[in-house]
Amino acid sequence: MSQSWALRCQILSCTSQPTDDSGWFYHSDGLIWVVDGLIKRVGSYSDVKNYLPSDIRIKHKPEYLLIPGFVDTHVHYPQLEMIGAYGTQLLDWLNRYTFPVELKYRDYEYASKQAVQFLDQLLANGTTTALVFATSSVNSVDAFFAESLRRNLRMISGKILMDRHAPDALCDTAQSAYDDSTALIEKWRGQGRLGYAVTPRFAPTSTDAQLDVAGALIKENGDAYLHTHLSENVDEIAWVGELFPEQQGYLDTYDHFGLVTDRSVFAHGIHLSDAEMQRLHNCGSAICHCPSSNLFLGSGLFPLKRLQQMGVNVTMGTDVGGGTSLSMLSTQGDAYKIQQMAGHLLKPLEAFYMATLAGAKALGLDDRIGALVEGYEADMVLLDLASTPVIEERMKRADKIEDVLFALSILGDDRSIAQTYVMGESVL
Ligand code: GUN
Ligand code: ZN
Repeated sequence: MSQSWALRCQILSCTSQPTDDSGWFYHSDGLIWVVDGLIKRVGSYSDVKNYLPSDIRIKHKPEYLLIPGFVDTHVHYPQLEMIGAYGTQLLDWLNRYTFPVELKYRDYEYASKQAVQFLDQLLANGTTTALVFATSSVNSVDAFFAESLRRNLRMISGKILMDRHAPDALCDTAQSAYDDSTALIEKWRGQGRLGYAVTPRFAPTSTDAQLDVAGALIKENGDAYLHTHLSENVDEIAWVGELFPEQQGYLDTYDHFGLVTDRSVFAHGIHLSDAEMQRLHNCGSAICHCPSSNLFLGSGLFPLKRLQQMGVNVTMGTDVGGGTSLSMLSTQGDAYKIQQMAGHLLKPLEAFYMATLAGAKALGLDDRIGALVEGYEADMVLLDLASTPVIEERMKRADKIEDVLFALSILGDDRSIAQTYVMGESVL
């Protein structure tokens, strides 16, 4: 039996990097038709209605806005339970709060329970695809993938590679990292909509031998991604300089081992040199901006304008638990505020692009998610434009879709998510 349904509502999506008048569309009276989990047709009501089968029932929600599901390109599922841990910057925060929590995920039952909660919350916030840090334990990845597969989610994760500067019980070795990652890739390859990311935590917690292994894994598995942290915090960068004196800078510690590719996503990238930005552009790698984390850990002001000028693909992530919310709406608002401090205006549609199609592009998935386009997977979010009294009142004064979007990024959160669709199925 084919599953076919239609919804008449407001519809907004990017189709490429947006300018003021291209790369996106908005229908104040739109119609979407979904068949078997894919978008069959989308456009204005007056046009699309002519293609619908005569017996289809059209749901009508004129006060709601349909957008693509958010793509969160950097988040740690085991850190949701320690979100909002008080005080200190990155390196101390890792030792004090993060590593003790991650130890618990060696237990499969525990990791499974936490994966359920994390995915519930991710979907409640309208995120349908994420690039996710697990922990260094194989069980943490198995648990996450099993739950994601059960829900038919398009999720990407991988085992952390970490063979130094962390508690012994969290550390692997270069060899075990290779063996375990290879086994995980083979086990989960082709399962549902899952993808695998080779995930060295960051340069300081991997030896040269292990970064070499990461490079080998990337080379041997063309479908794998590379996911790590880069240039987040000034003390971290100084430490990288001490640990890798023979490299030309932080990015070079990855580049030297073949980890800078068009399937690489680097979280943060706050303190990059022009040469590093140029290299990222040349290699087609993405930088994932994590504004709430940058604020919370006091990491610095993200150089969005310079990265855009260099043509680097910039995506958006929540970086929970360094980040303070799983909401990709409020994350867009935080990105705006950081650019205000940096003397640059971030336009609402630019932020929206970073939170949707740019993320899909970084993952090589922009031919199937991140936009509302015929043939794409119907991973979508329906936003309630009156989810709180303040938002309802504010929307009466929004005369353009850009202003609607902006107000949602400043005032919205999970309460604004009326429905999340995964392959056309309602999951809230
Ligand atoms: N750098 C290395 N590990 C981490 C982490 O868990 N969170 C953040 N924000 N940065 C990191
Ligand atoms: Zn992170």
